[in-house]
Amino acid sequence: MLTQSDYTAVFDASPDAMLVVDADGVIQDLNRQAIAMFGWSREELEGSEVERLIPDASHGRHRRHRRRYGESPQPRPMGEGLELEALRKDGTTIPVEISLSPSKLGRGREHVICAVRDISSWKRVRRLSGMLVAAAEQERKHLSRELHDEFLQNLVALKIRVKLLADERDDGARERARAQVAEDIRGTILGVKRMIRGLLPPELDHGGLSSALGSVFRDIEDVYGFTVHASLGRVGGELDEVATLALYRIVQEAVGNAVRHAGVSEATVTLESANGTVTATIRDEGCGFDTEGVPGDGCVGLAGMRERAALVGGSVVVQTSPDGGTTVRASVPVQSTDGRNG
Ligand SMILES: Nc1ncnc2c1ncn2[C@@H]1O[C@H](COP(=O)(O)OP(=O)(O)OP(=O)(O)O)[C@@H](O)[C@H]1O
Ligand SMILES: [Mg+2]
Repeated sequence: MLTQSDYTAVFDASPDAMLVVDADGVIQDLNRQAIAMFGWSREELEGSEVERLIPDASHGRHRRHRRRYGESPQPRPMGEGLELEALRKDGTTIPVEISLSPSKLGRGREHVICAVRDISSWKRVRRLSGMLVAAAEQERKHLSRELHDEFLQNLVALKIRVKLLADERDDGARERARAQVAEDIRGTILGVKRMIRGLLPPELDHGGLSSALGSVFRDIEDVYGFTVHASLGRVGGELDEVATLALYRIVQEAVGNAVRHAGVSEATVTLESANGTVTATIRDEGCGFDTEGVPGDGCVGLAGMRERAALVGGSVVVQTSPDGGTTVRASVPVQSTDGRNG
């Protein structure tokens, strides 16, 4: 036979925050998870209105819904189809899912048992998967543009040149035209190689991170006239394949951002290895930006950098200001924390 204290233990063992709220919306009891989730003590919450745990803007609507629920109580999720948020003591909010179960407790009086689940991780994963889909779509667009602008246009120009070459009667002019065609073919081959490197850098397997990044920086100089002052040493060999690719992509994106957004024509990149961590620092002296103002949709670069680093147990810190330019510091542990290497 279970005792009262056993039932309290069951209440506290729930992975969800649980609240018992009376018909007037007053919190009568709560479990340990609720204290941990909301940051208030038991004494602070017991006896207060449940609206204390809801952002101010939603109080009126919540009271109306609570009254309506009281008229025909039945087990159901709260606010189906709505994005619910709970308010913590420190003023921050968390996305939650709430299920409501009416129950006659304490001498048969109507109460509602609320199970509150923190869905921040789930939301983060969903946002990430949306970003991945958007990034794949963007990559396709980028590829098709590059195939069109770089590859197709060159082939069309070559076709015309070859035709002119065939019609050329003068030996000297024909030789000059032939040399031009050979030069154009060489340029096209280099362009295709650049595209291949952008997709999956072959040097990462052969020459390692430093060498692959060196090629990226040379391509950037050739295409955009943007100089990267690199101090790469031979760092990176100690990282495994996944961590190496993560750091490569992060540097590629950060330098790409400096090229596209900073309004300068040079940046510095350093790679250092110390205390089991490899750190890449990408610095430009450009216009900087407001990190708060970065839109969530369409801009996947910065978020992608952070996700890539997090996936291998690392992190990305961005320091930026209008007169101070931008510094992106990405650190990746040699021994990944998710146990992949250990
Ligand atoms: N080095 C930089 N200097 C100035 N502004 C920057 C720099 N890096 C990023 N930004 C600003 O931050 C925004 C977000 O960057 P992010 O890389 O996330 O997206 P994006 O480059 O616009 O698009 P993409 O998804 O193709 O990377 C940029 O649009 C730009 O305004
Ligand atoms: Mg970007």
